[in-house]
Parts: sequence; structure tokens; C-alpha cells
Amino acid sequence: MEIQLWRKILCPYELAVRELILKFEHIIEEHRKNNLYSPIEQVSGRVKSVASILEKLQRKNIPMERMEEEIEDIAGIRIICQFEEDIETVAKMLQHRSDMVIKSEKNYLKNIKESGYRSYHLIIYYTVETIEGPKKIQAELQIRTMAMDFWATIEHSLQYKYKGEIPPHVTERLTKAAEAIHALDHEMSSVREEIMDAQNSSRLQSDIVQDILLCIENLYKVSNQREVRKIQDEFLRIYSTKDMQQLERFHRQLDIIAEGYRAQALK
Ligand code: GTP
Ligand code: MG
Repeated sequence: MEIQLWRKILCPYELAVRELILKFEHIIEEHRKNNLYSPIEQVSGRVKSVASILEKLQRKNIPMERMEEEIEDIAGIRIICQFEEDIETVAKMLQHRSDMVIKSEKNYLKNIKESGYRSYHLIIYYTVETIEGPKKIQAELQIRTMAMDFWATIEHSLQYKYKGEIPPHVTERLTKAAEAIHALDHEMSSVREEIMDAQNSSRLQSDIVQDILLCIENLYKVSNQREVRKIQDEFLRIYSTKDMQQLERFHRQLDIIAEGYRAQALK
């Protein structure tokens, strides 16, 4: 098969990967904008390289003309979550979408692989619009926690290094590491609520601070400088107390002052 042909075959997969990454990133953004915890932390994706497609065709004895049906992971998306619970939330979210159809799932959380690999895989059908019309393709979604991803990345590098034949003493270490990762995910889950609270209030605080600073900047344009300096000093004093309630109160007061100026300007 010619180079040109490969490019043509892979083109819709490239589009799919880009579209899917954009859509999942938008889910993160939508949650953040609504001050909601996002079950998705990070998304990445890739189109399988020609070399790796060829290797898989050979390894699984698949004829070239069956490639697009048989190789389900030409388009691959990885969704990283903070907590194990988030994986199910994401999976449920995907079931209800109108732009993808789930073909199959592999639950390596319930059925941990012998290697120690844990992850939740979905094969989906996804339609992209090409210049030749719509094309339905398959994509593999791997959903896992940051900890699971850490382990899988290291293990994958070792597989590569040892060409698939990792020596027993390294395998033993990897198995131990997989158990530690499993325990870590459970520990993190047990303090999930607290971590989520902390992350939320830190985001809330940074939003409020940004709002206050913007407000002070606007006041600077319309009010006298001495007054604005006093407001700024007051903000710095409250900020240094790290008291969120005081900061919120100050934010509301500043809003009222700004509103007063806006009303005056309209007169
Ligand atoms: P492949 O021929 O590798 O695609 O296997 P498969 O078609 O039987 O699918 P499977 O769900 O087992 O694996 C799909 C993908 O999951 C792989 O391409 C890897 O990216 C990942 N994966 C599966 N098992 C392991 C593992 O033991 N270690 C690591 N690091 N990744 C794995
Ligand atoms: Mg596969």
C-alpha cells in the first residue's frame, strides 16, 4: 500500500481524535464554569502509527482489507480521572450521548489483567464528516485514574525496553507496584469528599480574588485614587487572613460600591 493511501485512510481517524479530545475537554470546562467537580481531569489522544498498525495486522493475522473492522484502536482516546469512582460517572455519561454508540466494553477494574493492568475500555462507533460524506469509524476510549495511568505508562516503557519479555525480578516489582497503586486509589477514594471540597474552595477563592482585582481596577478609573488605595489595602489585609467568609463579604461590599458608581454614571 502506498504512503498516499495510508494518509487517506488515517485522515478520518485524525479528525475523530481531534473532535473527541475537544468534546471531552469541553466537558471539563463546562463543569468548571458551573462550579461543579469534573469527573474528567485530563484527555489525550492519538492515531495509531502505520508501523504499529502493520505490527498488529501481522501479530493477529488480519488481512489488510479487514483492517478498519478488526483494528478497533486506530483512533485512541485516554480519559484520566482523579478518583476511581469518577470512571463509572464518565462511562455513564458516555452511554447517554447521541454522538457515539458503544460497541463493547472491557472492564479491567473488575477483571484485573495478569500484568496488574487496570483500566476501563470502551470501543465506540463515531461518525465524522469527510469531504466524501459521513464515515463511521471505531475508536478506543481508555478511562483510568492518574495512578493507574502512572503504572500503565511505566509498565509499557518496560515492555518496550525488554521487547515484551520483562525479566521475572522486574515483573515481581511491577506486580508489587500495581498492588500499591490499587491501595493508593482506595486511600484517595476514602478522602475523596475532603479533597473535592478543598479543590472547590481553592477554585472559588481564586475566582473571587480575580473578581475583586478587576473591580478595584474598574474603580480606579472612576473613583478617587485615595479611596481606591484604601480599598486595595483592605483587600490585602483580608486576603492575608485567609478567611474565605471575610473575603466573600468584602467581595459583596465592593460589588455594591461598584454598582453605586455604575448608577451614578447612568444619571
Ligand atoms: P491489543 O492487541 O494490545 O490492542 O490488545 P486487545 O485488542 O486484546 O485489547 P486490550 O483491551 O487488551 O488492550 C488495549 C490497549 O490497552 C492496549 O493497546 C494498551 O494500550 C492497553 N493495555 C492492555 N493491557 C495492558 C497492559 O498489561 N499494560 C499496559 N501498559 N497497557 C495495557
Ligand atoms: Mg485493542
